[in-house]
Amino acid sequence: MSILLVGGTGIIGCAVAHALLGRGIELAALTRSRDNMSGMPFSVSARLGDLSRPDSLNDTLADFESVFLVTPEGPDEAAMGVGLVKAIKQAGCKQVVYLSAPAPAWGNEVPMLAAKRTVEDAVRDSGLRWTILRPNHLFQNDLACRDAIAGRGIYPLPLGDAGISRVDVRDVAEVAAAALTGTGHNGKTYRLDGPDPLTGREVAAAWKRHMGRSVVYAGDDVSAWAAQGAGDLPAEVASAQAEYYRQLQRHGLHADPADLKIMQEIVGRSARSFEGFAAQVSHTWQQVAREVAAGA
Ligand SMILES: NC(=O)c1ccc[n+]([C@@H]2O[C@H](COP(=O)([O-])OP(=O)(O)OC[C@H]3O[C@@H](n4cnc5c(N)ncnc54)[C@H](OP(=O)(O)O)[C@@H]3O)[C@@H](O)[C@H]2O)c1
Repeated sequence: MSILLVGGTGIIGCAVAHALLGRGIELAALTRSRDNMSGMPFSVSARLGDLSRPDSLNDTLADFESVFLVTPEGPDEAAMGVGLVKAIKQAGCKQVVYLSAPAPAWGNEVPMLAAKRTVEDAVRDSGLRWTILRPNHLFQNDLACRDAIAGRGIYPLPLGDAGISRVDVRDVAEVAAAALTGTGHNGKTYRLDGPDPLTGREVAAAWKRHMGRSVVYAGDDVSAWAAQGAGDLPAEVASAQAEYYRQLQRHGLHADPADLKIMQEIVGRSARSFEGFAAQVSHTWQQVAREVAAGA
């Protein structure tokens, strides 16, 4: 079997690559630069290409039976996704697994959700075998906040207090691997959630417990997050994410009991908890800090 991971060098694609290792599958990641392959396992090869020119990807796509597709956020997300789905079909691939997002009716306010719906429609109409994954807000979004959490004792993501059933990317990746390699997933759309609806204050409190230092929630000021915390994101992406956080604050994003069964049914266990994730990551961050201090 052969699988091309589109968005393979990103957080989600990389986790999917790890979940697929050791199964005798030929794996490759599409990337615009070989320099971005540093986090990938050695056995995953790089295929150079750019989603903004899907027609140029025909030869690459023709080498693979299946494609795992992550679309990059931004004004061209829908066009890139739809173009790629067309190219996948034309190249003769058999299957696509698309990484979408949960589907509350916020598409008008949040362009990246509208783009996901457009790509989902193209996937369903493609004539390919397909599976759509809709993961909640990932635990791993916190990894980019290390300086704020570990250094300044601030939890910066404006998650609000309505509760969000955040999920671990490793769980998402295991479901993706099952959908790519197993049976019974064709034509299915899976909402993927973690076990606990978490507020910003609860997430900060978990970091405080495991980091052994004060960590306070920065609060619900989305504009302040967009101005400072959105870091290097392009302006349109930062503004779409800011709107997403406003919607999350207003409505929350809770798992239904039926959604929570999906992980159990596919992976054979419950979804990982945020508590366990924060414990593991805190341990690593503290160890790195000790090594840096010892070397200084
Ligand atoms: N984070 C969350 O909580 C969450 C939850 C649900 C859904 N999502 C969705 O997940 C997606 C982001 O995934 P991620 O966090 O894994 O991404 P990421 O870490 O930001 O990585 C982006 C990936 O997209 C690739 N890419 C970007 N522009 C490209 C282009 N023009 N041509 C080819 N490849 C391109 C990059 O490849 P190179 O740079 O190597 O070329 C890289 O592999 C978004 O659609 C987001 O809405 C995220």
